[in-house]
Amino acid sequence: MSDAPKSHGRKTIRPTLRPQELMTDRPSLAQAWTAQIITLFPDAFPGLLGQSLTGKALKDGLWQLETIDLRPYGEGKHRNVDDTPAGGGAGMVLRADVVGRAVETARRQSRGRMPMIYLSPRGRPFDQAMARSLADCDGVTMLCGRFEGIDQRVLDHYGIEEVSLGDFVLTGGELPAQVLIDACVRLRPGVLGNAASTEEESFSDGLLEHPQYTRPTEWQGHEIPPVLMSGNHGEIAKWRRAQAEELTRARRPDLWAKRGTEE
Ligand SMILES: C[S@@+](CC[C@H](N)C(=O)[O-])C[C@H]1O[C@@H](n2cnc3c(N)ncnc32)[C@H](O)[C@@H]1O
Repeated sequence: MSDAPKSHGRKTIRPTLRPQELMTDRPSLAQAWTAQIITLFPDAFPGLLGQSLTGKALKDGLWQLETIDLRPYGEGKHRNVDDTPAGGGAGMVLRADVVGRAVETARRQSRGRMPMIYLSPRGRPFDQAMARSLADCDGVTMLCGRFEGIDQRVLDHYGIEEVSLGDFVLTGGELPAQVLIDACVRLRPGVLGNAASTEEESFSDGLLEHPQYTRPTEWQGHEIPPVLMSGNHGEIAKWRRAQAEELTRARRPDLWAKRGTEE
């Protein structure tokens, strides 16, 4: 079994304990934020992350992606990765020994501060604050579950935090992992053309964003609010703030209440 991570991006080098890799085209992008993913479906990456701004940033080496295929760590000739749940019940569970071996590889290959996360509907709800905190790390390792999930002992043994993308159940952790990566990568320096856009968007100030408009100035009888066409930046800022507050109060009383306590 190869320990080498499958990398997606401009360069694929990572300093490992194996000196021959340092002699080839595999030096690590030491400063690049790293998304490391343990998955049964490595070909699902980079997926949509290979497009648009995240795709360009990946090619430019502003972040890097490493997938660790779970299958080669499986048991026996068929590399089995799952088994029936202890105590009975429907479905299959990813085996502790198999996942544990992949986690060990991930730990060996990670660098700096890279929290390990298991994407799971039971986890702490993912939010913008978590995206900011992960974007400030050197990267993140994500464990993608399948079937009924992962043997609890792996999570307990390594102290892996569970993170949820919402109160719904998906078939696997790969889509949540891509969502999490997107939310983090766009906060990294140089990824978005205009850094101010992440300062003013929804959740950045505990508020939802104000409505946005662009040309044409009149469409189907609907006009752009006149204040936005006035050129008066003070009035525009005031209008946007009022709209953001009104929207947040109406749509997300939970966020509004939280703001009050944090100020
Ligand atoms: C079918 S789900 C397992 C659901 C699990 N039996 C339960 O009831 O909590 C398979 C995998 O999809 C991923 N997953 C599903 N829903 C998710 C969510 N809302 N957030 C994050 N990951 C999710 C997890 O990695 C999970 O192990």
